[in-house]
Amino acid sequence: MTSADHALSPLDHEGVNDAVSHALAAIAAATTPEMIKQAKIDHLGDKSPLAAANRAIRDVEGPRKAEAGKAMGAARARVLEALEAKGNEVAAAAEAARLEREKIDVTAVGPRLRLGARHPLELVMDEISDFFIAMGWEIAEGPELEHEWFNFDALNFDIDHPARAMQDTFYVDSTSVGDGKGDAHLVMRTHTSPVQARVLLERDLPLYIACPGKVFRSDELDQTHTPVFHQVEGLAVDKGLTMAHLKGTLDHFAQSMFGAEARTRLRPSFFPFTEPSAEMDLWFPQKKGGPGWIEWGGCGMVNPNVLRACGIDPDVYTGFAFGMGIERTLMLRHGIADMHDIVEGDQRFSQAFGTSGKGK
Ligand code: PHE
Repeated sequence: MTSADHALSPLDHEGVNDAVSHALAAIAAATTPEMIKQAKIDHLGDKSPLAAANRAIRDVEGPRKAEAGKAMGAARARVLEALEAKGNEVAAAAEAARLEREKIDVTAVGPRLRLGARHPLELVMDEISDFFIAMGWEIAEGPELEHEWFNFDALNFDIDHPARAMQDTFYVDSTSVGDGKGDAHLVMRTHTSPVQARVLLERDLPLYIACPGKVFRSDELDQTHTPVFHQVEGLAVDKGLTMAHLKGTLDHFAQSMFGAEARTRLRPSFFPFTEPSAEMDLWFPQKKGGPGWIEWGGCGMVNPNVLRACGIDPDVYTGFAFGMGIERTLMLRHGIADMHDIVEGDQRFSQAFGTSGKGK
């Protein structure tokens, strides 16, 4: 017996209808393009009952052949139509699901990379260095962890001198450095002035140096103070230097920092390492409560004792020195009211100064 013996007859209306119903049920149950494909193979493919019945048309004799052909054509058409309709529906659903999966919200805020900015303090220090280099001065550096001798002794601070306490010094526990035994006499430098002694010992005369750098004092951080801040030191030692050279240099520096209108004034003061000493004030038109003088730094003629401590004959050479706070310079120049802005390092603050310095 062959399967053809059991083949559905194209004239078996009930059988053909059953086969069509089966096919339509399978198609209705299909939910994916794969299931549609499988339903087509199962119900219209070569091995399907409808295909067998279709092939059997050729065996029908006589006038019923046309009837068989018509019946099979109609049956196959119903299945094909259902396949196509459901096929479209399933494909549309699959496409919609894919689009949903791949959906991107073009209005969503994407991650943004902020362009970095250099800290304005760094920019001002660069600008200050450029100013002195343009005058033919050299830039010098010294250690931030400094020997007490350079920070105080060489600068003519007496061992018991109250000036040692005047600058609130961070003394470094001697057991934490070196061999841990000796009395290391180390401090976090309280000013950039120790660099004066270092260059006087290391370099040949005449010398003209500027030293921007970090200094430390045991202050609390508040609107106008910070325990870690920056100064720029200036030192010139040559034959025949006078206070007039100091004043001229300061005026020129002030104009470079604050504009052509800037003026400075000296007020008598005291520093152990300069004699005479002066506070240097800056004329400040934007001062709160009306234009007036604002303290900008300290200065004076290098004390002969300092020259002597560094092996220089004060009868041959004289010098002047000055030092000012860089945070203060920045705050005055840009109307920054709160030290926290400078210390906290928020990019949004730095960005206002651009990357070249004068900013704003
Ligand atoms: N070192 C002094 C200070 O920190 C400033 C200064 C520098 C004064 C150079 C005179 C000469 O206050």
